[in-house]
Amino acid sequence: MVDRSSPPPLSAASLTLRLAGIAVVIAVVAGAFAYVNGTLDPQRLTPKKLINVLETNNGVHPGFRRNHSKGVCVIGHFESSGEARSYSTAQVFNAARTPVVGRFALPAGNPYAPDSAVPIRSLALRFNQANGQQWRTGMNSMPVFPVGTPEAFYQLQQAQSPLPSTGKPDPAAVPAFFGSHPEAGPFLAWIKTAKPSASYVTETYNSVNAFYLVNAAGQRQAVRWSMVPQAVDAPGATAPEGSDFLEKDLDQRIAAGPLRFQLNITLANPGDPVNDASKAWPEGRKVLNAGTLVLEKSQPQLNGECRDINYDPLVLPAGIEGSDDPLLAARSAGYATSYLRRTSEVSQLPAAKQEAQQ
Ligand code: HEM
Repeated sequence: MVDRSSPPPLSAASLTLRLAGIAVVIAVVAGAFAYVNGTLDPQRLTPKKLINVLETNNGVHPGFRRNHSKGVCVIGHFESSGEARSYSTAQVFNAARTPVVGRFALPAGNPYAPDSAVPIRSLALRFNQANGQQWRTGMNSMPVFPVGTPEAFYQLQQAQSPLPSTGKPDPAAVPAFFGSHPEAGPFLAWIKTAKPSASYVTETYNSVNAFYLVNAAGQRQAVRWSMVPQAVDAPGATAPEGSDFLEKDLDQRIAAGPLRFQLNITLANPGDPVNDASKAWPEGRKVLNAGTLVLEKSQPQLNGECRDINYDPLVLPAGIEGSDDPLLAARSAGYATSYLRRTSEVSQLPAAKQEAQQ
């Protein structure tokens, strides 16, 4: 009787051929991964390179963000005015209230930098919509970014890297970079007069990158947004000397009552640059007052709710879309790399060490 249940035995030659076929498939897949990963092209800018250069310049502070490392968490909610409703289906503009977890921070990667070190502050927000979708945004107090591409951002970081010979950055490198990057003009004009603020809550925070609002009819409107503070400083108030006045100021103000910001959404006119964060939009654009951010509580970042949030600017609800600004994709990929590194080091944070010793 013939056994039809098992295939005929393979000859040595056909077995070798099959194994070779499998090896070719594996090699092609590995090659594709290496290509996507940038391994095959050492010139290609990868998220790893972007984060490595930040670590070279700032040192590695385990558990902390690789940029905007020093910060504080805030908890509150957003009250929609309904004004953005006809431009976007996003629930955040339609529901009366949406809970928010936010974070104020200083730019740069040193969590122990004095608050007066730089005149820039940032505000990141995560809106948790009732339908489960989220809107995450990271905004800066600068109106425009120094550069328009991830490659230029990387070169600017490289210009600030310590030289192996001296252990210090080449003092001529940053001026040389700006000399060959005229797009930085608007940012340099702004930074010339910018002063470190005495408070996080008296600054205006800008999306800097452009996005699209999309309405129920599928119409897309290019926008940039800003959070404009209701709080004002006493006339002539300047940042005090010392390292950590911003968090103390925030704690004191919030203990006295909720702090409010108005969400202004600026609508682009046709032809306004949507893919270049180094360029301002001309004055006179229509601005929507989309609602009010109400901050009710602050928390230290070491154990606060914002600590383990990645404020990836491309986590968007239906009704808000990213633009083709190349910085957005680079931010999204770079923040993920920073997030993976820092969350794998959480046990090394000062707060975790203290808890372990108790
Ligand atoms: C290629 C350009 C950029 C790179 C490589 C970069 C890199 C980073 C990294 C690594 C972080 C820390 C992320 C984390 O660990 O969660 C960060 C935070 C941040 N970045 Fe950028 N960034 C870029 C451009 C921008 C731009 C254009 C803005 C404009 C608004 C911006 C605003 C922020 C803010 C607000 C935070 C703090 C977010 C938080 O509090 O968690 N960044 N950035």
